Amino acid sequence: MKKVLNVVVTLCVLLAFLGGAQAAPKPDDVVHYRQGVLMALGWNIGPMGAMVQGKVPFDKERFAFLADRVAQLAPMVVEGFDVSTKDAKSEARPELWENLPDFQKRMSDLASASQKLAIVAGEGDKAAMKRQFGVTVKMCKGCHDEYRVKH
Ligand code: HEC
Repeated sequence: MKKVLNVVVTLCVLLAFLGGAQAAPKPDDVVHYRQGVLMALGWNIGPMGAMVQGKVPFDKERFAFLADRVAQLAPMVVEGFDVSTKDAKSEARPELWENLPDFQKRMSDLASASQKLAIVAGEGDKAAMKRQFGVTVKMCKGCHDEYRVKH
């Protein structure tokens, strides 16, 4: 009897957990998710920028390592820009929600450019790495100018 009870209790706990996992995430959590991934993007782009600008010695292996991370992270951002977060506190400008297809296109372009950056970095041609890095960060800035609250 005690064993059956244990099984029932375990099942209830499991179902409660699954139920929680299935519920739509809270808008504030969605915002934190996207800000976290964007922060991680910035974290990895920063040292690459320092290399490109000659502020630190150019380390091809490190550059390729960071480029791989960026290529993994870039496609993860867009799902955090869900319409459920329209009224949540964030630095997304209202125009973003009026131009969602343009915004999504920019995110998908960033994902492609980042992927290309990782490939180019793997090939090890420094000039090509710098060039593709430039293409990629231009996309960051272009979108921030349009859709991120200015500081
Ligand atoms: C398609 C648009 C778009 C692109 C491309 C984009 N960003 Fe952003 N970024 C945003 C928006 C919008 C916000 C504000 C998000 C918020 O507050 O929820 C933001 C915020 C950020 C933040 C601040 C996150 C925080 O903690 O509040 C960082 C860091 C950042 N972006 C880095 C980058 C980097 C690096 C790239 C390029 C590799 C990039 N972004 C490309 C739109 C974009």
